[in-house]
Amino acid sequence: MKVPVLQVKGLKKYFPVLSGLFRKHVGDIKAVDGIDFTIHSGKVLGMVGESGSGKSTAARTAIRLIEPTEGESLFEGESLFLLPPSQMKRLRKDIQIVFQDPYASLNPRKSIRENMGDALLFHGVVETRDEQTECVAQTLRQVGLSPDVMSRYPHEFSGGQQQRICIGRAIALRPKLVVCDEAVSALDVSIQAQILNLLSELKEQLNLSYLFISHDLSVIRHISDDIVVLYRGKIVESKSTEALFEDPSDQYTKTLLSAIPRLQPRRKRMT
Ligand SMILES: Nc1ncnc2c1ncn2[C@@H]1O[C@H](COP(=O)(O)OP(=O)(O)O)[C@@H](O)[C@H]1O
Ligand SMILES: [Mg+2]
Repeated sequence: MKVPVLQVKGLKKYFPVLSGLFRKHVGDIKAVDGIDFTIHSGKVLGMVGESGSGKSTAARTAIRLIEPTEGESLFEGESLFLLPPSQMKRLRKDIQIVFQDPYASLNPRKSIRENMGDALLFHGVVETRDEQTECVAQTLRQVGLSPDVMSRYPHEFSGGQQQRICIGRAIALRPKLVVCDEAVSALDVSIQAQILNLLSELKEQLNLSYLFISHDLSVIRHISDDIVVLYRGKIVESKSTEALFEDPSDQYTKTLLSAIPRLQPRRKRMT
């Protein structure tokens, strides 16, 4: 079997609580408290849990945007926490993140061309300005926008379009893993579905793997192959999406499931 894209073992991230004039260390916030998860090549791992359960911290620590307290994270079998700084640039290209608020993740003073194209040059995906223009144009088409919008600015777009631009910026670098941290949570429900479809299509076309984070199980369900449920920094359930919805074993998962609005409340139960 192929080596997993990301394999996280015993990951912990504690934030110190400091108090008083001398900033004495009085305790820790155990944001992530010993978790294991694996993302297989070409698959989507959903991570769900209420706000504050440690999802963002888990993702950021796993890909070393913040330093871990303890644990191990292997990207394609290579230990991320042991990589020297000189190797981190390659990693920053291979692992991309899409955040909740697309407008905040774009530079408002730069055109779409610059917002998407700067990193292409920086990471050496393209070498000339012509190549850059061509790559941005092609990427815009891939995310369902016209290449004509290249010279426009972020504020001229709707939230859904801005998120398409952020997704484009991520995939243009030809990453292997994309972390979507509440990437559709700020969007209207109808737009959420469009963006989820786009992410699914891109995953197939480009053979991507996703860590897909959301507080909303009904969103996670549509896109994930497997799901981990996070509660107070620990994983309380880890299953295939099908198994989780058919037979949730943890009480907390059951509570999350019961919060999903039913589409057909009056349908009779099939027995
Ligand atoms: N930089 C930080 N310093 C101190 N505490 C933090 C920091 N980042 C997150 N936390 C705390 O860690 C916990 C988990 O937060 P977070 O990972 O953002 O959860 P989620 O993404 O599931 O909403 C929360 O209690 C939060 O307050
Ligand atoms: Mg978060």
